[in-house]
Amino acid sequence: MKKPFSSSTLESTKKSSQDEPVVYLNGEYLALSNAHISVLDRGFSFGDGVYEVIPAYDKNLFRLQHHLQRLDDSLAAIKIKNPLTAKQWQQSIEQLIQNNPYDDQSVSLQVTRGIGPRDHSFPHNENPTVFMMTSPQKKPSSEISITGISAITLNDNRWKNCHIKSISLLANVLLHQEALDKGAKEAILLRDGYATEGAASNLFILQNDCLITPPKGPLLLPGITRDLIVEIAKQQNFYLKEQNITKAELLNAQEIWVTSSTKEIAPVTKLNDKIIGSGKPGAHWNKMMQAYQSYKQGLRSNTIG
Ligand SMILES: Cc1ncc(COP(=O)(O)O)c(C=O)c1O
Repeated sequence: MKKPFSSSTLESTKKSSQDEPVVYLNGEYLALSNAHISVLDRGFSFGDGVYEVIPAYDKNLFRLQHHLQRLDDSLAAIKIKNPLTAKQWQQSIEQLIQNNPYDDQSVSLQVTRGIGPRDHSFPHNENPTVFMMTSPQKKPSSEISITGISAITLNDNRWKNCHIKSISLLANVLLHQEALDKGAKEAILLRDGYATEGAASNLFILQNDCLITPPKGPLLLPGITRDLIVEIAKQQNFYLKEQNITKAELLNAQEIWVTSSTKEIAPVTKLNDKIIGSGKPGAHWNKMMQAYQSYKQGLRSNTIG
């Protein structure tokens, strides 16, 4: 079992690393340049691990219990025993946030199957590696709320376990980069004629004033932002359906949004050179965005957890 953290290491780290981010590695807080992982770590050899990205606003963690539940689900799916309890995760993450200077942070954590011989079989006496770092959580650019973003559709050529938040992100990386190379900001993925999600985001469309998002399942990541939007939509009496979206429905949508912890809710106003809706972020987006921002405001002022 890993130590959740060691305060003595933390003290010495703080002194030696004033300009460097403090990271967490296997129970210790270290300056980033002092954190080292073995070349035999299975995360490096096989991409054998899972991760989470958790925003914190004014150092308050966004939907921590939801992120920890998804982490638990991802670990169970790849048969790694969770090395920390929920309480230890919470203490360790909160400590990491306190050790770094920014008010708004994005915590990335990852758990791998640890060190082992270069062999596909799981190692005996598995000892998972736990690494966490934070970076400043940037506000999505204000230009996005004026112009929206452009996206392209691409064939979803990932594996069929996309509900696992796996660190093996090569397919997502290539799809996202293809979108960038074609002048777009995100790729919306199509599998067997249906839109699944973005290369690094979930998908919503508006059709006849009804908000639609594909149902959860093995072909998409159960996004924490997605779930919050579904919750808000129910509270705000949006018409809401969780159902599959065809390519034609996507292209003819009134509005398209892609969502994630870092993008929040990005309105897509151009898809494959086709203007979506009026070509500007739509009225439903505006309403949802206001509700989302007031949720964040509640978190900042500690009125919600
Ligand atoms: C493939 C994919 N889908 C959806 C999401 C959105 O998930 P979340 O809202 O939890 O950030 C992400 C986030 O990185 C992602 O990579």
